[in-house]
Amino acid sequence: MTIIDGKKVAEELLEKMKRELAQIRERGGRRPHLAAILVGNDGASETYVSAKVKACERVGFKSTLIRLSETISEKNLLENVDLLNRDPDIDGFIVQLPLPKAFSERNVMEAISPEKDVDGFHPVNLGRMMLNLPAYLPATPYGILQLLEYYKIETSGKHCVVVGRSHIVGSPVSVLLARNAYPGNCTVTLTHSKTANLKAITQQADILIVALGKMNFITSDMVKQGAVVIDVGITRIPSGQSKNGTRLIGDVKFDEVAQRCSFITPVPGGVGPMTIVSLLMNTIKASKMNTLKAAKA
Ligand code: GUN
Repeated sequence: MTIIDGKKVAEELLEKMKRELAQIRERGGRRPHLAAILVGNDGASETYVSAKVKACERVGFKSTLIRLSETISEKNLLENVDLLNRDPDIDGFIVQLPLPKAFSERNVMEAISPEKDVDGFHPVNLGRMMLNLPAYLPATPYGILQLLEYYKIETSGKHCVVVGRSHIVGSPVSVLLARNAYPGNCTVTLTHSKTANLKAITQQADILIVALGKMNFITSDMVKQGAVVIDVGITRIPSGQSKNGTRLIGDVKFDEVAQRCSFITPVPGGVGPMTIVSLLMNTIKASKMNTLKAAKA
């Protein structure tokens, strides 16, 4: 059994990106610039956005964090999105989710220019992904693909069972793993809260991807011997032992499931660190496109 070390892979890829950026700079290229909009003061969102900003600094990107009050109108938020759409110095940007309840996430996602949508959440990017056209891939599914590739995990002809059909993880990863590509060429079953007899299906998975947000949901009796298990779930619970008073629990009961697996991702330190790498990779791509666009203008 191999524990997939997402932290190590992410470190390696960040260092590689840093070297690539140094080369771009030597040739007179500009630094990629990522912006993030954070609405309100949700603690988890604060943590995720500051990790993204920190990663930008580390790799040598420019970053801009726009903090907006939870009391602003949706119209005002959309105006801020539009400013970033039109700012030639911004290569890509994200609006951190979840948004406070008063906002329509759909309206906001659709207002982001697909060319700057480095989260890959705009319908144009999701549609391009469906068609296997060049697109910004959503960060978490893209991070999962990169882990499968790094560990040279065979995917062709395998039965991949995805648990959870969210727009951010479950649905896109099921599309990506069914594509004619590597990683891909899986036979994919997408399961969700209305799936009948879930256990009988997860037991058939060669690759089991769990993105549900219910801690310790997957137990060893649900997993086939030798399966590859990718745990995307993160539930934050109070903990007296950690510095910030909380710790993260995955959707998979790690200790018992690990004994049945060929590969498994831990929580934390599995998929999580890869999402930021994916976001920065999308931003480098956006920066290259933006530079080409400026040269043509
Ligand atoms: N909230 C949880 N995951 C994500 C993500 O990948 N992007 C954004 N913008 N918000 C998130």
